[in-house]
Amino acid sequence: MKKINIAIDGPSGVGKSTIAKIVADKLDLVFINTGLMYRAIGFYCLENNIDLNNESEIMNKISQIKIELLPNNIVKLNNLDVSSRLLVDNISIAASKVAKLKSVREFCVKKQQEIAKLKPGVIMEGRDIGSVVLKDAELKIFLTASNEVRVKRRVKQLLEKGEKIDEKEVLKNIVDRDRRDSERKNTPLIKVEDAIEIDTSNLTLEQVIDKIITLAKEKMN
Ligand code: DC
Repeated sequence: MKKINIAIDGPSGVGKSTIAKIVADKLDLVFINTGLMYRAIGFYCLENNIDLNNESEIMNKISQIKIELLPNNIVKLNNLDVSSRLLVDNISIAASKVAKLKSVREFCVKKQQEIAKLKPGVIMEGRDIGSVVLKDAELKIFLTASNEVRVKRRVKQLLEKGEKIDEKEVLKNIVDRDRRDSERKNTPLIKVEDAIEIDTSNLTLEQVIDKIITLAKEKMN
């Protein structure tokens, strides 16, 4: 079977990384979570008291450090694996702020395209994969889910981690991030014409995975 590239885009909380990881394992593709790069930059800015709106300072600092985006949800800053520290709300907010900045986006896109060149057969997930990073991907998927369903999933995740929950706060976070990701000037989240939309609101994880695998196999043969 032919190796193909798959782009998966969609708003936060639709299950992109869970789905992409399983599809990657089943189809022997390399899974890259591009949001981790924006998260790592947001994390670095918070740790070093860098203003999240100061584009030139951010670029100046990040060009001096080593940022490695690796398969399977791993990102390293100066050889240190910081991945497990990035999935918290203040980093989500910082990531969506730095992701608005044009030069930060160009920096990340360049690295992500280099990864795809080195490793043909990738499944990348993010917001601009089908529209910018992997414009030529053989398969483009746009995942959606209602706000209600996304809140429910997030609440379940937080409960599993034993964290305190305020459903209204969870909804506000999701809506605010959607707005920042979809309304930003630089390459906002959009569904490109050749992407196939899958609304996951009423589907199980297995059903979504089966759909994507069926679509991918059509392209691989
Ligand atoms: O997918 P995520 O929630 O980990 O992404 C973190 C932030 O980075 C989110 O606000 C959207 C942004 N992002 C982006 O703008 N482009 C990408 N390709 C991936 C993520």
